[in-house]
Amino acid sequence: MLGRRKLNLIPYFLCLITYTLCLDASVFKVRKPKDNLPVTSVNGDPVPVNAGDPWDPKHAPTPHVVNGSFDHPIESFVNKDESRTYYFPYEFSADQSWAIKVCVKSDFATIEAPLLVVVRQSVSIMSLNVPLTFSGAKLKYGKVCHTLCPLTNFDPRVPSGHEELDIELASNSADKVNFSLLVSNVTDFVIKTEQSITVNITASIPSVLEYHMPDKVRSVLVHAVSKDAQCMILAIQDIKCPFYDAERTVEYKGFYQTLTYQSGITITRKSFKDGKVYIVMILKPTNKECSGSDENVKDSTVKEVVLTVMPSISDTDFYEAIFGAFGFFLLVYIFSFIISVFLFVRKRRHSSFECASQSSISTVACSNPSIQTYGTVTASSSYASHTSVNPSVPEPLARRGSDVSLDETDMDKLPDAEHDKEVVRTKTTLYVSDLARKKEKHLKEKTSVYSWNLITIAIFYGLPVVQLVYINQKIVNLTGNQDLCYYNFLCSHKLWVFSDFNHVFSNVGYVLLGILFLLLVWRREALDTRHERESQRTEHYKPTGIPHHFGLFYAMGWALIMEGVLSASYHVCPNKANFQFDTAFMYVIATVCMLKLYQARHPDITAKSHSTWMLLSVVIFIGVVGVLQGGTAFWVVFIFFHILATFVLSTTIYYMGIWKLDRWIMRRVFRSLKMDLIAGSFRPTYPGRFVMLGIAVMLNLALDIFGLIKRPANFASFLLGVFIMNLMLYLLYYTAMKIRYKERIRWIPLMYIVLSFASWGAALHFFLLKNTSWQMTPAGSRERNKLCVILNFYDDHDIWHFVSSFSLFFSYMVLFTLDDDLENTPRDQINVF
Ligand SMILES: *[C@@H]1O[C@H](CO)[C@@H](O)[C@H](O)[C@H]1NC(C)=O
Repeated sequence: MLGRRKLNLIPYFLCLITYTLCLDASVFKVRKPKDNLPVTSVNGDPVPVNAGDPWDPKHAPTPHVVNGSFDHPIESFVNKDESRTYYFPYEFSADQSWAIKVCVKSDFATIEAPLLVVVRQSVSIMSLNVPLTFSGAKLKYGKVCHTLCPLTNFDPRVPSGHEELDIELASNSADKVNFSLLVSNVTDFVIKTEQSITVNITASIPSVLEYHMPDKVRSVLVHAVSKDAQCMILAIQDIKCPFYDAERTVEYKGFYQTLTYQSGITITRKSFKDGKVYIVMILKPTNKECSGSDENVKDSTVKEVVLTVMPSISDTDFYEAIFGAFGFFLLVYIFSFIISVFLFVRKRRHSSFECASQSSISTVACSNPSIQTYGTVTASSSYASHTSVNPSVPEPLARRGSDVSLDETDMDKLPDAEHDKEVVRTKTTLYVSDLARKKEKHLKEKTSVYSWNLITIAIFYGLPVVQLVYINQKIVNLTGNQDLCYYNFLCSHKLWVFSDFNHVFSNVGYVLLGILFLLLVWRREALDTRHERESQRTEHYKPTGIPHHFGLFYAMGWALIMEGVLSASYHVCPNKANFQFDTAFMYVIATVCMLKLYQARHPDITAKSHSTWMLLSVVIFIGVVGVLQGGTAFWVVFIFFHILATFVLSTTIYYMGIWKLDRWIMRRVFRSLKMDLIAGSFRPTYPGRFVMLGIAVMLNLALDIFGLIKRPANFASFLLGVFIMNLMLYLLYYTAMKIRYKERIRWIPLMYIVLSFASWGAALHFFLLKNTSWQMTPAGSRERNKLCVILNFYDDHDIWHFVSSFSLFFSYMVLFTLDDDLENTPRDQINVF
């Protein structure tokens, strides 16, 4: 219908109607090329243009051609016999800061016979249908507006001067279709930096603004705020015409994201040529993408959005923030180095007394130079023969001995430690020497396997992670879909390929402090080994202090580094698919710390590396299932296994490894109960351990009940909470027992304890100020977004990264130095608890 119209007749009709128009040569001049344009119909066939053409329809609609003027609404009608064309002449300049907006409204146009509008300029064409329909014509909008892209951005060669807009309306309806047409001048089309513009949008009336970044600014933040909950799209497109401001096409170029109450997009000069962009806003016809609910937006719904462009960061700020953080960690390194050198020099000076200071950053004065042993010395392999068997071993506790299994597969079998193990370990008062009977070299190998396993697993686990996030980031950059990753959009700075560089970079603390910890462990091991060799030459050599097996310390260091790497990977594109990278090595850290703490007083009873890893892999598996499928059934199963694990572990700890889970367990428990009943004794053999384990079991149960009732959406964090709680409990117990057995806590570990408590407190505070949440929809997560808080570069979560890296480091140092007071205590006087 539209296609069959004979466009070349227009000037002649015009001449007939108004003679004056023909005098205005510009009408012809401008229209001329348009007339020569090959006109095609909807299906692409060329439309015959000759007057004498046999296809010429009998009832060609009569075009009514009128000159329109800006900002004056035109009311008229069309039907299948009559179409309308309006001309809007205007002066065009290449640097214009305004734009033309075309609005067509018709309450009479129907879906079967819509009002068809064609908008033409010298180099562009646009068409619209009224009513605009969505989701299979369920939603219908009678008023449609579009901003026209300024002509220069189609082609910079378009000359300034006279331009003409021509709008043609037609319909296939037999009845009159009334419409109103308004062509207006958008004078606030260009938004300036630090300016706010309020716009009203609907699903059929999008809003487009143009923005030019000022020089010397590295990036700006386009911040949109609204009081209405309706779902909208905010898009940034480069300054090429056409821009895409329709619901169906908005995803074609640039960046886009959904939002309800607030959001932001950071624009860098690098990602858009000269930092010139179009900002497109459009309301979604349904709220589905933002809230998940399928509630439709009414025809009349208008969303008011306040758009502000804020300068985000300059190049100087950027380098300051990055090198500032880096420099800070460098200072920590330098500080540790200076203290190490200081200690070394002092030790040299004191070497005449053979007094050495033991701890890494320790400045403890060597109070008793007459004691010639070096702290934390590890037992030599000759130790077993040296000490022979502790003469104070009481009568074997035959009653207990019969209850426990005689072999232990999870522990080592070493002949020298095996022969009277049952006797030794069932004493009520144990000393570390009783549990440090295995060959030193063997134990060393056994714990160093932890590091090797950890590194291997880290590589196997980490590489796919890096690969995955690399692809994720690439997809984000390629599609511009900013709903894929849950960033804090109000504080994310782009660098290289990274959309959110600050959150990746702020993990540097874990890596650097992890390396520092490894260096400290390495230094101490070297000193220890040397000192041990020296002291073995002395005559009355007796092993003192807690046997240090450095393998687990190394594993802790590596785990901290890996936590940094994986957390950085997670933050490349945080979402539901890769959440577990962030927590996986936290489980490892918690577990290794617990093992280390346990190993201190039970050197012989170290869980084997592969069993530990197997357990951890089960934990990670549970974590994944919990997040993906956290129904009631899952919780019941989880709680069952958690209680089982609690029971098994606490029994193992209670009996110190001389206990085995096998098919005779029930019989043994029963027998033991019967014996206790007959003997009428309900007093536990090891009250300290019993109370501690009792509290631990209770708290774990309490946590289970809490989980079952509350059902936290982020199961991974809940699981981590279980780990952390147990670690904390154990550390508390350990410290309490230390005090109970009248061991001193030196001021260095005390300092670390205070520091780690303080920094954990602060870290937790920042952790809970969540700025994003992948449990929600992308738009829901954006509601929590917050602006940067320090250096204009880091937000709360970055601070959490920094502070928690220190917290972990300090906690490590607590474990590392806690038993320094025992360095000169003979091992057979150190209590086991
Ligand atoms: C639109 O407004 C601007 C600024 O007021 C003016 O310079 C321009 O000529 C106007 N355009 C039209 C077509 O009226």
